[in-house]
Amino acid sequence: MPLVNLCGSNWRLVLSALLICAIIFELAYCQKQDGGQRTTPGRKPKQSKPKSTKPKTKATPAAQAKAVLTQVLNRGKFKKVGETISVQTGDTLELRCRGKPVKWSVPSYLEEEDDGRLSIVQYERYGVLTLVNTTGADTGEYTCYPMYCEDTDCRKEYDKAVKVFIFFPDPQELFVPSSDYYKGIQLRTNWPTVLPCQVTSPAARVTLHREFPPVEVVVDGTEISFDVKKGFTIHRPRPYHAGALFCVASLGNLRQSSIKYMLIYVNYPMAPPAPAIQASSSSVAVGENLRVSCSVVGEQDVAIEITWEYPGQEIGRPLYTQESISPVGGGAARQQSQSVLLVDEVRDVDQGTYTCTAQNLQGAKSVSTTVKVVPKATKP
Ligand SMILES: *[C@@H]1O[C@H](CO)[C@@H](O)[C@H](O)[C@H]1NC(C)=O
Repeated sequence: MPLVNLCGSNWRLVLSALLICAIIFELAYCQKQDGGQRTTPGRKPKQSKPKSTKPKTKATPAAQAKAVLTQVLNRGKFKKVGETISVQTGDTLELRCRGKPVKWSVPSYLEEEDDGRLSIVQYERYGVLTLVNTTGADTGEYTCYPMYCEDTDCRKEYDKAVKVFIFFPDPQELFVPSSDYYKGIQLRTNWPTVLPCQVTSPAARVTLHREFPPVEVVVDGTEISFDVKKGFTIHRPRPYHAGALFCVASLGNLRQSSIKYMLIYVNYPMAPPAPAIQASSSSVAVGENLRVSCSVVGEQDVAIEITWEYPGQEIGRPLYTQESISPVGGGAARQQSQSVLLVDEVRDVDQGTYTCTAQNLQGAKSVSTTVKVVPKATKP
């Protein structure tokens, strides 16, 4: 069963990659979670076409209303676009957006792959986006941003942007093609997770399936919902959502499966930790023992790292800590993580600020307390 073996090793790869991600806090880079992202199928031969060289018009800083986006249909007909439109694959898409000038954003696949099919021209009062020889892979969000300019310094006016989601129903490809065979997705506690199986036609019926055991996943609209512009969203991930899932789209006689999504559950804290610090005494005599404790109450099975900064650190005073984790009573599954810094036979150098920093995957927080060292009490 070579396929199963392949999956097994992929799983391990994905898992270790995701763990590294979690550790270095750079989830955004490791996870291609954006529903609009895809890689090009690389089916189209590259063609070069001379870039439009229309001169940019001078902009006026006058306030404008929200931009107006229209679709240019055959024979010079215009149609104001709604939230979504469908354009037959192979046809030319032409969008006109009022503004001087305007900027466009297109699905990232089109931005990366300059095969000469996309052209953007700015006229005096409006911009025109033209996409020829369209395919299902062009499906996605197209946005027009009017620009606000002062002399040559222009910026996008985000509040006046107009977005339209454009489907290019492809009779052969029900899903927007991807060159990936599978995609690893991290399920984080209570963070919505998107399975970006994007269909090319809004008319396709899309269902969600688990590979092992092979069952259709119930999409109730609450725990898991479907959006034809985005794919499936698992709103509150739980450990049982983990595994290999894929989408199936059907339209007419056509039935196709999406790529596989490897969902890996990570016990993710809801918030950065909130540590509390307490010294056994705020004033200790030379020669006595001092204990400073730092404790954090948090969700069960969420790792918290506690580190210390203390006055004797710079001169290499060797202090030691005692770490412990204990369950907290009450209904919710919570635990207390504690680190106790022990200072035996206090010296003058131990006077000052003791800081503990508690860190989990959501962030870090520090708390401090000060300790005063007083001369040894003399026996009467
Ligand atoms: C669009 O397709 C036609 C017919 O296949 C071809 O001749 C033309 O070069 C294509 N245009 C671009 C910009 O890809």
